[in-house]
Amino acid sequence: MEKKYKIITYGCQMNVHESEKIAGILRRMGYEETATEDTADIIVFNTCCIRENAENHAFGNIGALKKLKRNNPNLIIAVGGCMTQEKGKTEILKQKFPFIDIMFGTLNLEELEELIKEKQAGKKRVVRIRETEGEIVEFDGAYRTSYPNAWVNIMYGCNNFCSYCIVPYVRGRERSRKPEHIVAEVKKLVAEGYKEITLLGQNVNSYGTDGLGVSFAELLDAVASIEGKFRLRFMTSHPKDFNEEIVKVMQKHRKIMRLVHLPVQSGSNEVLKNMNRRYTREKYLAEIEMLRSYFPEAEVTTDIIVGFPGETEEDYLLTEDLVKRVNYASAFTFVYSKRQGTKAAAMENQIPEEVQKDRIMRLVALVNSLTRQKSEAYLGKTVEILCEDYDEKKGLYLGRDEFGRMGYFKSEQNEIGNFVDLKITEANGISLYGEKV
Ligand code: 5AD
Ligand code: SF4
Repeated sequence: MEKKYKIITYGCQMNVHESEKIAGILRRMGYEETATEDTADIIVFNTCCIRENAENHAFGNIGALKKLKRNNPNLIIAVGGCMTQEKGKTEILKQKFPFIDIMFGTLNLEELEELIKEKQAGKKRVVRIRETEGEIVEFDGAYRTSYPNAWVNIMYGCNNFCSYCIVPYVRGRERSRKPEHIVAEVKKLVAEGYKEITLLGQNVNSYGTDGLGVSFAELLDAVASIEGKFRLRFMTSHPKDFNEEIVKVMQKHRKIMRLVHLPVQSGSNEVLKNMNRRYTREKYLAEIEMLRSYFPEAEVTTDIIVGFPGETEEDYLLTEDLVKRVNYASAFTFVYSKRQGTKAAAMENQIPEEVQKDRIMRLVALVNSLTRQKSEAYLGKTVEILCEDYDEKKGLYLGRDEFGRMGYFKSEQNEIGNFVDLKITEANGISLYGEKV
């Protein structure tokens, strides 16, 4: 009988793709995927530590396995991802959950096979977490689960040390993959039929600045020059490095989506300074203006944190003002979460929870109202959607246009992976509904 695996993923696209790599390793070892934990022979938690609630979530779910493990002592429980890379966290995990069999980090994911074998050979618990980043290990065995989209890492790590952020502590310094490896991977993916390629990095704009001698704009140009019909996007850009060279490459290639994810975090210069973001609201707005001077229709999405230490009501209102000026297509909005070991955790003037809650509610309402207005402007238009899934509940296919907007439609045939022209007939909040034309 085949052995079965279940992977539980928390956090961002980076983690989603790393889970695809973990799945690749497990399949190579002869495991097959299963939908439920109680039918698994190995359960892997790919954790996230960017905000406290992501950690609490993982703690809760790992804890819930105690009984399962008691009933099935052969079950292997492995914990990896950002949490295990956090200083002192493995000790806490060990104490809280003595039944964890394997712990590994983001910096040694490719060692998982070895660790599983050590466990199977009879070791009680295998804990191996690299402290510092090493050379990039090329890995082409990911088991992809997001067709027609494929995630492609272009770099790992982050050098920015935004004062609230734990990522640089758990993912090490920036390392860029060689352009020839990236181009070869994308070529292969396009040949296999993937229709949307997303280049991934914590700060893609600083690609190559670690001594490769190739800029992000040059890499983007090379990837967009690959033949075949596919869409190309990239995330995440950092406003301190986003530039006109990149936009010029976008102009050269119709394949590159007219959608930029450009996290602003705050609209107040004072807060931006304390966050160590190294740009001002004026510079950010000038970049948006530059982008839209090339593509007036370009859409921008963003990340925003409210309730950062010292954020006053005036600061918050500057964020609202910036949100209106940019007119975002959508935004991921977060309440500031204190992360041990970061600069901001030691700052005075932490903001009370009720103030944070009030601000996030107001901000979400504002962002939703912008999205709704944009939806209405779609009515009667025809857009090209890349179909990515089927919604069982609605009985409709869904996909996104090149601005990232979701549209639903009916079809008698399997449309996943097809480019479909949709005439938009209904706009309901953030969702669009249309008919195939
Ligand atoms: N608290 C709240 N949000 C955070 N982010 C990063 N660190 C924190 C934190 N400590 C948000 C930022 C980032 C996104 C991925 O997560 O907005 O862009
Ligand atoms: Fe965190 Fe800033 Fe790096 Fe993004 S750029 S991962 S927010 S430190």
